[in-house]
Amino acid sequence: MVKSNVYITSILLILLMAIAMALLSTSSHGLSIAGLSLGQGQIYGVLRCNISGDPNAPPVSGAPVYLKCDGSNTTIADAVTKPDGTFRVLLSAGQTVLISPSSCYLLANLPGGNCSIYVPDGALTATFTLLRIIQTNAKNIAVFTAGPFVDKIF
Ligand SMILES: *[C@@H]1O[C@H](CO)[C@@H](O)[C@H](O)[C@H]1NC(C)=O
Ligand SMILES: *[C@@H]1O[C@H](CO)[C@@H](O)[C@H](O)[C@H]1NC(C)=O
Ligand SMILES: *[C@@H]1O[C@H](CO)[C@@H](O)[C@H](O)[C@H]1NC(C)=O
Repeated sequence: MVKSNVYITSILLILLMAIAMALLSTSSHGLSIAGLSLGQGQIYGVLRCNISGDPNAPPVSGAPVYLKCDGSNTTIADAVTKPDGTFRVLLSAGQTVLISPSSCYLLANLPGGNCSIYVPDGALTATFTLLRIIQTNAKNIAVFTAGPFVDKIF
């Protein structure tokens, strides 16, 4: 009797551990794609002087762009737009593992740079998605592209 109880208890424990491990691996926010560990991340995008992300609007030069995650106001990384409005946010290995495109976004305060339009929320935001992974001998680089900056998705 005691023996079978111990047996059932240990089976239950093993089941619980298996369930816990399955939950942990699916809820992990870390970005390790197809088993590749990522050594760096890069997010590319273009900031335009328009609240609805019109691709025909002029680019914004010299404006800071901030990466934020999980509804937090903390800036994880940033970049400044070039004269053609493009920018590249560089992420270290540690930062790349922390970010998840579904819970992170890019933010630019406007007016800013050489764009003087009024934005009701004071900022435009853009989401981004994984474009590809570049494998080099030294490291794997996750390359993301940002969608248009609009007012306001969060
Ligand atoms: C910019 O945004 C405004 C307001 O949404 C829109 O009316 C306008 O056509 C857009 N495009 C350009 C090129 O300014
Ligand atoms: C976010 O941080 C900026 C700069 O530190 C601050 O001015 C702003 O009020 C903060 N916004 C929120 C919603 O906490
Ligand atoms: C900002 O400056 C760039 C480069 O000089 C120019 O191409 C762009 O049209 C300017 N944007 C605005 C909104 O004036």
